[in-house]
Amino acid sequence: MGKVFLVGAGPGDPDLLTVKALRVLEDADVVVYDRLVSAGILSLARRALLIDGGKRRGEQERIQEQINEVLVQHARAGRKVVRLKSGDPMIFARGGEEWEHLLRHGIEVEIVPGISSALAVAPLAGIPLTYRGLAASFAVIAGHRESFIRTDWAHYVALDTLVILMGVENREYIAECLIRSGRSSSQPVAFIENGTTCEERVVESTLSQVAKGEVEVNSPAIFVIGEVVRLRKRLIGSQDGSLAIPEGAACAKERNR
Ligand SMILES: C[S@@+](CC[C@H](N)C(=O)[O-])C[C@H]1O[C@@H](n2cnc3c(N)ncnc32)[C@H](O)[C@@H]1O
Repeated sequence: MGKVFLVGAGPGDPDLLTVKALRVLEDADVVVYDRLVSAGILSLARRALLIDGGKRRGEQERIQEQINEVLVQHARAGRKVVRLKSGDPMIFARGGEEWEHLLRHGIEVEIVPGISSALAVAPLAGIPLTYRGLAASFAVIAGHRESFIRTDWAHYVALDTLVILMGVENREYIAECLIRSGRSSSQPVAFIENGTTCEERVVESTLSQVAKGEVEVNSPAIFVIGEVVRLRKRLIGSQDGSLAIPEGAACAKERNR
């Protein structure tokens, strides 16, 4: 019987893979990967059969069932299977559900955590999530529709920094709800698109401008709300007022040529 490794690929830059993830990828027979995993990372799985497990809108449940089946089939055939997810496999990635499914089918599972975009993308763009005297708490929230049914926005008013994943599409609604629940409309926000890759783009604004629909941004992006956003200019700004590319977010594409 083979084994399935539930592996986190980190936020994009291949240098942010863990040593363990790299070892497991190099040794894999089969890699089932998600949409946000970059070509640079996939190329590290030199001898593996690569299977695209990316989910298209409206087909998520059907594709998830297929993925579950493929994982079981290959593991039963005695192969080392890597289920590769962007960031960390247990953060908004259905890693726990796949783990349960595999256990129900008697398949051995090993978890290889990854660096989540929720934790790494903002700091690498010059925004620490906590900062003494400015932010002593943070929360990570899913910004897609289904999660709003259970969301009590009042919980998030008192938290210093909010990091919202999958929140691009509903950004106006999210900003409105937070302002209505008592968060200051002048609070600074930042969207970081394609963090840690060559396509990284940072858009700074305020909660009220987002609520008014004045901020253009594309997925994938993290939405950061809080006073810590102001630190960006201090931490990565240069004397002429322009922003330098932070050291840790060097261009993955350049390096992988
Ligand atoms: C389905 S969630 C997966 C999260 C992932 N498991 C993690 O721990 O980072 C996908 C969301 O993560 C965020 N995301 C992932 N990679 C990102 C990146 N490189 N830059 C910005 N946001 C990213 C975006 O909000 C995107 O919509």
